[in-house]
Parts: sequence; structure tokens; C-alpha cells
Amino acid sequence: TPSIKCHATLPGIYSEASTLADIDWDNLGFGLIPTDYMYMMKCARGEGFSKGELKRYGNIEISPAAGVLNYGQGLFEGLKAYRTRDGNIVLFRPNENALRMRAGAERMCMPAPTVDQFLETVKETVLANERWIPPAGKGSLYVRPLLMGSGSVLGIAPAPEYTFLIYVSPVGNYFKEGLSPINLVIENDFHRASPGGTGGVKTIGNYAAVLKAHTAAKAKGYSDVLYLDCVHKKYLEEVSSCNVFVVKGNTICTPAIKGTILPGITRKSIIDIARGLGFEVLEQLVSVDELLNADEVFCTGTAVVVSPVGSITYMDERTAFGDGKVGRVSQQLYTALTSLQMGLSEDQKGWIVK
Ligand code: COI
Repeated sequence: TPSIKCHATLPGIYSEASTLADIDWDNLGFGLIPTDYMYMMKCARGEGFSKGELKRYGNIEISPAAGVLNYGQGLFEGLKAYRTRDGNIVLFRPNENALRMRAGAERMCMPAPTVDQFLETVKETVLANERWIPPAGKGSLYVRPLLMGSGSVLGIAPAPEYTFLIYVSPVGNYFKEGLSPINLVIENDFHRASPGGTGGVKTIGNYAAVLKAHTAAKAKGYSDVLYLDCVHKKYLEEVSSCNVFVVKGNTICTPAIKGTILPGITRKSIIDIARGLGFEVLEQLVSVDELLNADEVFCTGTAVVVSPVGSITYMDERTAFGDGKVGRVSQQLYTALTSLQMGLSEDQKGWIVK
């Protein structure tokens, strides 16, 4: 077993010289555990990607004048590979990630891999790192494709060269609460996105923009921040790392995709699954009032899966949902989604890719 350098975000768990044998598969969090290989492919502006290669995982060399470093010309994706109980390795709707990266690339003036290139390179990277995929039911291999302007620029311009890179890490729960309800705080002063901006694509700057409020919220003991629209300051947008849903009776509402909210693949899947289970699902404006009067609230995302919300704090007032227990609807949707992802229920929609 080669020695792998680990730089965990969970202090003290993985040291510089951790190996596969050091991983506690029963207690995986969402911290980086570097693996054996990464995939890299480059192309010039105006040309398509053609050929890349697997490389040993490690630091990359980049021009100090790279577009991504100077002007934030970068996108990322997130998807997961699972080991199923019957011994398969599967991806969940990877073509959706490929399409979302292509849409984001168009907004950020970058060339992007084709859907086929994206799928093939993700599969190749996952298989090259197969030994890092957690045992069935103990987590997943998080796949992080990046697309960046790696060529040099000085004045504002699209970079002359682009790099597509994929790295992976075994992960468990995103929130330390696991499936237990999380506590959110509504942010009033900072906004994540504005109309006409880049909130609807997975560009790296969207995540830098949330760090200040997110860090302050974590320091106060909240799990994450819920952002409001920047015009009226009363409609829900999304959480730093995920989309949000509000349940009232048999109706589930979620903010509509209008350019300021990330079109989550888990969001889209949950809408489909919920409709299939007989819920009415509405994509529309959702006000803070509706949120605070909800029976249940939950978040969705690749990293967070389905995370029930136990409380929302707004203007220093805390509203609790469900007596600290997981809500019935959140539980039902979590089970339906994860059974499908882990090969425990029939894939009638063709969402699973071996
Ligand atoms: C994901 O859910 O894959 C994301 O990209 C969110 C990220 C903050 C972990």
C-alpha cells in the first residue's frame, strides 16, 4: 500500500502519512482524504478537449497569471460513486453533472468536456481509485471534477488555455449531525447571488462569497446559513452547500430556478421522487413566512443528500421543527433516494450508471 499524503479538514484524524489502512470506514466525515490518482486534460481556447491522462494525485503547477487565480474563471462539479451490496460500483446521474458543467462553462466563457468525455473520465478516475471506495453502506467516493482557466492573462479576458481535472475522496456525512436535524440561520446582510449574476452555475466564486457568513454561523453553533434573495430580502434562495424544501401537508415547495439558485441534481431527483410518491411539488417563490409556518423543512444536495432541518433562526428568533426528530416526509424521501443510489431499489428511471 503506497503512502498517501493526507490533509484532512478534520484535525487530527489523518496525518501526513496516512494510508488506506488508517481510514476508519465507520466514521468518515466530509474531509479530504487524498487517493492514488487524478485525471487531467488540457485544451486551448477555441478548441475542444481531446485527450487527457491519469496522473498520481498531487499538487499541480499553474501560472501565477492563470485566469482561474486572477479572475475566478473556474467551475466545479460534485458527484458520488457508491459500492452496492451486490458488488457493483455505480454513479448517480453523472450525465446531469456533465450537462451542468457545460452550461456553467458557457456562462464563464470556457470550453467544456463533452458529456461522453465527462462520463468516461469520471469512470476512469473512479476505477483507478477503486480501493478508496467505502464498503457498501459506509459512505461513498466523492468525485470532484474541476474546470479552470489555466492559461495566463493580465487584462480581463478568457484564459488562452483550460484544464479539466478530476480528483476523488472517500466521504461520509457532510453535516456532523448525519441524518439528525441540522440548525440553520437566515442571513440578512450578505447575499449569495444576484439577478444576472452567476448564482445559477457552479462557479468557484459562489462558494468564496458564502465563507464569511458561513464561518460566523458555524462559530455560533449553526450547521449552515440560509440565504435570502437580494432584492426583496424575504424569499428563500439556498443554503451555502444545498437547496432547500418546505413541507406543508401534502405540498412541498422549493425556490424556483431563475438564475440565482443552483440547479441541484439531488433537488431535481427529489422533486421527481416526491411527485412519484403522490406529493404536490411546487417550484415557486417561497417566503420566510411560509418557511417558518412549515410542518417540515429539509435540504438536498450531492454532499448533504437529504438533510432534515430541526430549527431555523431568523432575526434572533428560533423556530423549531419536529421536536428534534427527523420529519416523516424527509425520512421517506431520504430512504427512497438512498435506496436507489445504493442499488437497494429498482432503478426505473435509468439514473444509475455502472
Ligand atoms: C455538492 O454537494 O457536491 C457540492 O458541491 C456542495 C459543496 C459545498 C460540498
